[in-house]
Amino acid sequence: MDNQISRRGFICAGLATAAGVAISAPPAEAAGGIIILRDGRVEVEISKFKALAKIGGALLVGNVNNIPTALVRTGKNSYQGLDLRCTHQGVTSKLISGSFKCPAHGSEFTKTGAVKIGPAQVGLNKINTEVAGKTVILG
Ligand code: FES
Repeated sequence: MDNQISRRGFICAGLATAAGVAISAPPAEAAGGIIILRDGRVEVEISKFKALAKIGGALLVGNVNNIPTALVRTGKNSYQGLDLRCTHQGVTSKLISGSFKCPAHGSEFTKTGAVKIGPAQVGLNKINTEVAGKTVILG
């Protein structure tokens, strides 16, 4: 755990740094079940998110290495991270009514990232996803 900082810790550190306050050490505890690791990957504690309780559930994780990312439960113990940047022109898709929808020109993607409606021609890119016990590591 000493090589991790929580998302809250990261944000607080950023705000404090912007305000000129020195930060001695990041908090050791994860806030809210999402932890940004020092290498930029993100660890999600599965049990903290009701959205991941069922197969097909999806969670908007935030940025993973500066990429807006969703985590989708694809099976009993399988998950897939998706890069939410639309493959048409890069606008971030939003999770609406069970699909990822791009607000720019109307492309729509399934929860597995496949194109449902264009103009996008290619599905959402996958984010490297690793199940590690009760957590999923993205990036
Ligand atoms: S950028 Fe998403 S549909 Fe054009």
